Amino acid sequence: MNKTAWSQMDLIREAFHYQSRFDGSTMVFKIDFPVTEDPGFPYLMKDLALLARTGFRVVIVPGAKEWIDAVLSEYGIVSDYAGTTRITTTQAIPLVEMAAFHVATRFMTGLSASRVDAVIGNFVRARGLGVIEGRDMEHTGAVDKVLIRAIQRVLQEGMVSILPCIGYSPTGKAYNVPSDEIALAASTELGAVKLFIVSVNGGLRHGVYTLPETIPVRENCIIGRLAPQEAEAILQLNQASTEDKPLQHLRLALQACRAGIERVHLINGGEEGVVLRELFSNLGSGTMVHADEYEAIRSLKSADIADILRLMEPLVQQGFLVRRTGENINEKKADYVVFEIDGSVHACGALHDWGEGQGEIAAIATDPSYADKGLGRRIVRYLIDRAERQGLYRVFLLTTHTHDWFELLGFTEASVESLPTRRRNNYDYHRNSTIFALELQNRMDNLA
Ligand SMILES: CC(C)(COP(=O)(O)OP(=O)(O)OC[C@H]1O[C@@H](n2cnc3c(N)ncnc32)[C@H](O)[C@@H]1OP(=O)(O)O)[C@@H](O)C(=O)NCCC(=O)NCCS
Repeated sequence: MNKTAWSQMDLIREAFHYQSRFDGSTMVFKIDFPVTEDPGFPYLMKDLALLARTGFRVVIVPGAKEWIDAVLSEYGIVSDYAGTTRITTTQAIPLVEMAAFHVATRFMTGLSASRVDAVIGNFVRARGLGVIEGRDMEHTGAVDKVLIRAIQRVLQEGMVSILPCIGYSPTGKAYNVPSDEIALAASTELGAVKLFIVSVNGGLRHGVYTLPETIPVRENCIIGRLAPQEAEAILQLNQASTEDKPLQHLRLALQACRAGIERVHLINGGEEGVVLRELFSNLGSGTMVHADEYEAIRSLKSADIADILRLMEPLVQQGFLVRRTGENINEKKADYVVFEIDGSVHACGALHDWGEGQGEIAAIATDPSYADKGLGRRIVRYLIDRAERQGLYRVFLLTTHTHDWFELLGFTEASVESLPTRRRNNYDYHRNSTIFALELQNRMDNLA
């Protein structure tokens, strides 16, 4: 099979892996109004319809702020705000309802074009905010309850549920409720596996915010993944930018993670295929805030051996790695670790203890589609930590092509004579690998 066919097969495998993992699960999409005006909107609707048709339960929470502003301004109504919350007056509420349902209808129309049924419903029970600091908030409300059973009935029928930013009191009074709040309540109460925050901004960009030093950045300058504590650190470092949309989205993502949603994705709704890419490959293009341990280095299991042989094969063929058989690896299984992302192995490495206080770092390999994302460095750092914990005083490695990379990690060239006796006796003079070593007490500065 040629290279293109292999990568197509890999793509299909990856898509099946995710499809079976998420099948039947609920996903909530909070979609900002400007996305509906983007030329990419019909494609976004097509992809959501595809998800609904293939067994996913899709809930849409449309944001309508800009459209409500436009409608109110047409009728000469200027809104007052308490912080970032609009005070919806008795005069404004019929227009706000009209605007909110108009936006919801845009989604309905988009889904109808793909022959997927949708229901715009009175799924949110709301209560008025009352008087806050002397100001009557009138028809501005908060979520009292999301009517889960009604939404579930719609979803069970394979239809999409649409929740406009209007909630109703038990006595039938309408309130304008922030769509962020509805999205948060709906995703937690429905037990959604994911919340997508879809805007025209997409993920968080490097260079725009003050960031903690440890945050890794993608080539496209988007911050790919954040643990809740990292998201919190960013929010704290940029407290002054309260009006900034992506930071508001990050705040919502953090709240959702803390409320139990495992993964929240900040994506750009105008980007072709963005939802499918984020869902069916582990190389999404937005920012993901993850509550669970998304990526992990762990010990090798027997079931991983085939995966790491596959990972190593092209590197063996290029002469970067020595050939190992499944039996070789199995014999030293306890020495190996793998880097797992979303259930698949994307890098590996091993630490072999040769006695005399020295360990060999070996079999370091990264899946090329995950190159330059820090996997290799993290595996090496993990193995060095392991060597320290085992009481070794020195780690070394043999390399034919990768000396520059190890030098970057603080290793320095060493001689064959410096190897422990058993390894020295095994040294293959024909392969003529260069030896690099690291004294463990000196390593911290280089691998920060
Ligand atoms: C070397 C290898 C493990 C790096 O994996 P990785 O996960 O892409 O590495 P990281 O993301 O941690 O580091 C990437 C950085 O190292 C640099 N780098 C990668 N390979 C390099 C090399 N051979 N020489 C010098 N620098 C290298 C990248 O340009 C990148 O630099 P940047 O951070 O400035 O952008 C991977 O390329 C690989 O599998 N190589 C083949 C197998 C091999 O040689 N193993 C070592 C023998 S034990």
